[in-house]
Amino acid sequence: MPTRLRTLRADITTLHVGAIVNAANSSLLGGGGVDGAIHRAAGPDLVHECRLLGGCRTGEAKVTRGYRLPAAWVIHTVGPVWRGGDQGEPELLANCYRRSVALAEEKGVASLAFPCVSTGIYGYPADLAARVAVRTVRESLAPQSSLDEVIFCCFSQEDQRLYERLLDEAVS
Ligand code: AR6
Repeated sequence: MPTRLRTLRADITTLHVGAIVNAANSSLLGGGGVDGAIHRAAGPDLVHECRLLGGCRTGEAKVTRGYRLPAAWVIHTVGPVWRGGDQGEPELLANCYRRSVALAEEKGVASLAFPCVSTGIYGYPADLAARVAVRTVRESLAPQSSLDEVIFCCFSQEDQRLYERLLDEAVS
């Protein structure tokens, strides 16, 4: 069965999925935005495991358990800070989605939820980021992917509309 891509407006920490993605920073030790929400909901064991990971480069991803979250796993990825778009930001953001899909598949996860990586504190324009997200996820799925569904979890209605439009227009 092909992997289904869909969008949802929700707090990502409430989702009962195999893995959620965290829009982290390179320290992996927590922060504001969705990162802060995930750490609060998962409890202190999450930062304890993160301390053992030795940080994470922009465009890379690392996986931990989900602890008190309903999601079994958290895939921490570090998006690029937006610096105008000609500093490699699209490639770095695509790497975040590519590496996160690969890690989810390595863990045999059936459902994966992404927040809108880099589009909050890191300032990446939401419409450009959504295009990268949808295109890269489609391109990254393995032929025999464990993933039944990938959810683009939006916090705002505007973001959700962007994804609805892209998912409607894109041919799988
Ligand atoms: N559920 C889903 N989406 C959320 C939630 C939530 N609970 N909370 C916020 N968002 P941001 P970034 C959305 O700023 O731009 C942290 O301090 C939010 O509306 O969380 O990648 C890290 O430690 C936006 O659409 O991440 C880094 O230092 C999206 O999540 C830095 O922020 C991403 O916004 C990373 O910045």
